[in-house]
Amino acid sequence: MQISIKDVSYVYSDGFKALNNINIDIEKGERVALLGPNGAGKSTLFNMLNGIITPSCGIVEINGLSTLNKKNLKLVRETVGMVFQDSDDQLFNSSVMQEIAYGLMNMKLQEKEIEERTKWALKIVDMEGTEKRSPHNLSGGQKKKIALASVLAMRPQVLVLDEPTVSLDPRGTIKLVKLLNEINKEMGITIIFSTHDMDIVPLLADKIYVLDEGRVTLGGSTNEVFNNKNILRNINLRLPRAAHLSEILQKDGYLEFEKLPLTLGAVRREIKNFRRD
Ligand SMILES: Nc1ncnc2c1ncn2[C@@H]1O[C@H](COP(=O)(O)OP(=O)(O)OP(=O)(O)O)[C@@H](O)[C@H]1O
Ligand SMILES: [Mg+2]
Repeated sequence: MQISIKDVSYVYSDGFKALNNINIDIEKGERVALLGPNGAGKSTLFNMLNGIITPSCGIVEINGLSTLNKKNLKLVRETVGMVFQDSDDQLFNSSVMQEIAYGLMNMKLQEKEIEERTKWALKIVDMEGTEKRSPHNLSGGQKKKIALASVLAMRPQVLVLDEPTVSLDPRGTIKLVKLLNEINKEMGITIIFSTHDMDIVPLLADKIYVLDEGRVTLGGSTNEVFNNKNILRNINLRLPRAAHLSEILQKDGYLEFEKLPLTLGAVRREIKNFRRD
């Protein structure tokens, strides 16, 4: 198992219990979504994955290395790359170039390699030409892209993204989904993300865990979880729009689905088949 979260609870210093007995295993190359309402504990759980915080109870292991052992943290942080919910928590260098090179210099890579990786990372997030700008003066979406580039450049085995599409424009969102799927497929990078944008979940996740008030209330394949509509709605989540519309059309008697299609592509295929029948 690449990531093992076993009986994990977390209590903040003011006594607030943000995580309550979490058990999640993630294998190499999986694409996992963590869903849940505001305050559910998603960011808290993510901060556990590279040892920014450590469990009050239970154990988090990355490739078998416990985050409770300080000696493991360097390797754990090289293995798990983290894109924070708030880019301002991530960006602290005075130029975009330095921002991306910073982690690579810490890895003691050669200058040429640093230059190549920086170029590559800026290109895949569509931010070439911004090398000399200050990250702090960029727009929200641009900051998000630079934060992602700085993490990708380090080529982590696991990429953790806390609400990665917030502040991206529609084209940026689609490009990011495509990019994450590509690096997952081609480089075998494990993708773990949280989002409130249900439409991207079926495009980017094989598995979903639903978190509510610090507990995992539902877990399973993307299809299984989205077919558990009542539980989702009870905790302020909703279906992807394509699935919601399909549900309405079914209720009105226009179409009939064995399982709700979750993406526009899937709806399209179902309707084509329906017309043929
Ligand atoms: N530093 C802190 N001290 C005390 N409580 C905290 C701290 N940080 C977060 N919390 C609390 O822990 C709970 C979980 O917060 P967390 O940020 O993990 O939620 P989240 O699921 O990421 O929510 P969102 O969707 O709003 O990002 C919340 O009730 C929050 O108020
Ligand atoms: Mg959060």
